[in-house]
Amino acid sequence: MRKVLLMMLGTMMCSTLSWAGAPVPYPEGYRAWTHVKSMVIEPGHPLANPFQGIHHVYANAKALAGLKTGRYADGAVLVFDLLHYQDKGHALTEGQRKLVGVMVRDRQRYAATGGWGFEGFAGNSHTQRLTSDGGRACFECHRSAKASGYVFSHWRP
Ligand code: HEC
Repeated sequence: MRKVLLMMLGTMMCSTLSWAGAPVPYPEGYRAWTHVKSMVIEPGHPLANPFQGIHHVYANAKALAGLKTGRYADGAVLVFDLLHYQDKGHALTEGQRKLVGVMVRDRQRYAATGGWGFEGFAGNSHTQRLTSDGGRACFECHRSAKASGYVFSHWRP
């Protein structure tokens, strides 16, 4: 009886976890991945709050394959590395890191948000998380990129 109860409890916990999605891991080593593109968001742009700054997008090997084929395998990771900028002497230069945005592909675990786990990490922190809604607000905006697998960036050769 006790064993059955424990098993039931285990099943309940697992289904709760899969419903809530699992925490998105910090993308260790992403600075050595493929650089996809960069962009500067200035005040007045619709994304300025909170994305004003210089951002660079990085892809791991599986995400790079996805950018090229339009199909993302589980394990694909994309990173949005956002830095402040200094506008001085007619040049924009990189400042401190504002946040690291992450998208991790796992179709089962993150089924509620299009098969992508979304998370932001504050500044240079590997542990201070910025979402508290399981990445739903991130996904709501990324929804508009549905035709390209919820990914906005495109690969340029
Ligand atoms: C209001 C819209 C919006 C919201 C909210 C948003 N994003 Fe994005 N995101 C974008 C756009 C637009 C781009 C493409 C930027 C570019 O072209 O350089 C992007 C790019 C990205 C990328 C690079 C891959 C891609 O799709 O191009 C990642 C990773 C990312 N966002 C993560 C997040 C995370 C994590 C959150 C929530 C914390 C989030 N985003 C919230 C609009 C949004």
